[in-house]
Amino acid sequence: MPNKLYQIFGKEKCDIDFTLSYEFFMNYEEAKDKMAKLGQQHIFKYYDKLSDEQRVSLLKQVEETDFSVLSRLGKGADATRGTFSPLAAMQLSEIEQCGQEFHDIGVEAIKSGKVAALLLAGGMGTRLGSDDPKGMFNVGITKPVYIFERIILNLLDVVKETGTWIMLFIMTSEKNHDATTAFLKEHDYFGYKKDRIVFFKQDMAPACDFDGKLYMEAKDRISTSPNGNAGWYSSMVRAGLDKILDREGIEWINIFAVDNVLQRMCDPVFVGATINSNVSVGSKVVRKAAPDEKVGVMCLEDGKPSIVEYYELSKEMMDAKDENGDPAYNYGVILNYLFRVSELSKVTDDKMPLHIVKKKIPYIDENGESVKPTEPNGFKFEQLVLDMIHQLSSCLPFEVDREKEFAPIKNATGVDSVESARELLIKNNVEL
Ligand code: UTP
Repeated sequence: MPNKLYQIFGKEKCDIDFTLSYEFFMNYEEAKDKMAKLGQQHIFKYYDKLSDEQRVSLLKQVEETDFSVLSRLGKGADATRGTFSPLAAMQLSEIEQCGQEFHDIGVEAIKSGKVAALLLAGGMGTRLGSDDPKGMFNVGITKPVYIFERIILNLLDVVKETGTWIMLFIMTSEKNHDATTAFLKEHDYFGYKKDRIVFFKQDMAPACDFDGKLYMEAKDRISTSPNGNAGWYSSMVRAGLDKILDREGIEWINIFAVDNVLQRMCDPVFVGATINSNVSVGSKVVRKAAPDEKVGVMCLEDGKPSIVEYYELSKEMMDAKDENGDPAYNYGVILNYLFRVSELSKVTDDKMPLHIVKKKIPYIDENGESVKPTEPNGFKFEQLVLDMIHQLSSCLPFEVDREKEFAPIKNATGVDSVESARELLIKNNVEL
């Protein structure tokens, strides 16, 4: 059988399992050439010492990884911002008034299978400092209460109310996929129907030192990290899951972060209000706790929906008032968006800014020893969901009560931590 493996190893036979998709990866010479052109040939330092299988794995990684991000280094900020103006949110009082109407529209859409949920669980959760995927974190005090459990139970409330098993997509990454799937299986998916859950892995981006030189995390592996939470849509399409959306007639996807233990998703009132407003995306927002609170705020940028970061808010914007005399930039995003599926094809990766972030990147040193840095030692490359919003034509900021729906766990202690989330869970009568 003529195949590329023969070219790679330069021998008649090799001990690789031929069920591997051998025809898809490049041979050593091609890979060397590709990496030399990028000035990254050091990744083959240990090639001679690798087993056949390790070589295949490295060559596959060279073929599949998108290294184009490296060329963006040193080019300054990717996104120059436009002109900001306020975007009014639908506030709690209005939502209460129209609650029944929105609720009925939402229930109808959910019952007809038009709404899916998508859990963003591909992040590394480095600030929390646990080695496990964040969703496996136990926030319980007298009994185990896992983050994944809280989230699934909240979604199950809607399943029960509507009598409909909402399709739940779970995005993991290469780094946490096995642990996540094994954990959920072990806990019997916390009561969710297994065949209504679809896991997929997000794409990875290479990580490099401050000079742009790729790190290796093992002798046969370039350091990579998940490519940011905006990776969900392109990764989903690459995994062929858009076919499921078509097949199931899914028109709306509610994406949400793993770390908010009070997160409510696919709740009929939010779904109904978004559909009724005829927008491209609905975004749950909370009233800011203070004018300088460190949250991204929903607004318009050059007339299109956008999110202005707290550090981009000028004094003038902080002082600006709406027609009721309330602060005009007053609603922070909580990473809970309901996207209209038909609008998603407008969102393309290459139009979105690339965020180059300083992070601690584990690597092997020149002696082949593993190093876990305690300070940032290089760059990771990410695209963020909030930049997707700006590619869409319209957005409904939908206010939720922060005491009831916003308990993020980013850090082990202090602000947005396990402690603050526990307090809010207890306030919401969750037994811990
Ligand atoms: P964060 O921005 O808080 O990142 O993610 P993180 O990786 O979880 O935590 P740190 O910054 O390392 O401490 C917000 C949401 O986006 C998901 C996370 O899992 C979380 O639900 N996310 C983030 C992804 O799914 N993929 C990514 O590449 C990044």
